[in-house]
Amino acid sequence: MATVLSVSGSPSATSRTARLLRHLDDRLRAQGHEVIALDVRTLPAEALLGADFGHPAIVETTALFERADGIVIGTPVYKAAYSGLLKSLLDLLPQYALAGKTVLPLATGGSTAHVLAIDYALRPVLNSMGPAHITPGWFTLDKDITVADDGTLTVAPASAEALAQVTDQFSLALGVRPAVLAAAS
Ligand SMILES: Cc1cc2nc3c(=O)[nH]c(=O)nc-3n(C[C@H](O)[C@H](O)[C@H](O)COP(=O)(O)O)c2cc1C
Repeated sequence: MATVLSVSGSPSATSRTARLLRHLDDRLRAQGHEVIALDVRTLPAEALLGADFGHPAIVETTALFERADGIVIGTPVYKAAYSGLLKSLLDLLPQYALAGKTVLPLATGGSTAHVLAIDYALRPVLNSMGPAHITPGWFTLDKDITVADDGTLTVAPASAEALAQVTDQFSLALGVRPAVLAAAS
C-alpha cells in the first residue's frame, strides 16, 4: 500500500519511544504498509552536529524521506519540547522534506504537564516542512510503557487504545491519499 518511514528521535539506547514506534510499525505492516525504521541516534554524530548536509548518511536519510508516503515522528519530551537529536536531523533535511506526506506525530514524556508538547512544539516545526497533512498525534506517559526482560512491550490499556486509534487514522489517511490524487488527475 504505502511506504512509511518511522523515525525515533530519542538519544537513549533503551528508548521507550523507539520501542513504542517499533510496536506500532508492526501494526502498520499488518495493515499492508511497507515500514522503514529509522533511529536518529544511529546516524553519525559528526554529520548531525557538524551540519554536514553532504554526508552519505544524511543524503541517504533524505532519500528515505523522499521515498516515503507517510512519516511517523516519535520523540521523547525533553525540556517541554522535542529532543535536540530530532531537531538536529530535521535541520539537515530540505525545507519542504515533508511536502505531500502524511505525518503522525508521537511523543513520550514523564509528566502530563507536557502533554501538549506535540501541539505547541513539534507540530509547528513539522508544519513548516510542508506536509500534506498531520494526523492527530498522541502523548504517552513513560510509566505506561513497560518493557519485559525478553523485550516484550506492554502499553497501559487506555494509552494502547488511543495509540491504536491514531495509528489507524494515519493508516487510513495514507490509503485515502492515492485515491484522492487519482481522482484529481
Ligand atoms: C533530559 C531529559 C529531559 C526531560 N524533560 C522532560 C520534560 O520536560 N517533560 C516531560 O514530560 N518529560 C521529560 N523527560 C522524561 C522523558 O520525556 C520520558 O522519560 C521519555 O519517555 C523518555 O523517552 P526515551 O526513553 O525514548 O528517551 C525528560 C527526560 C530527560 C532525560
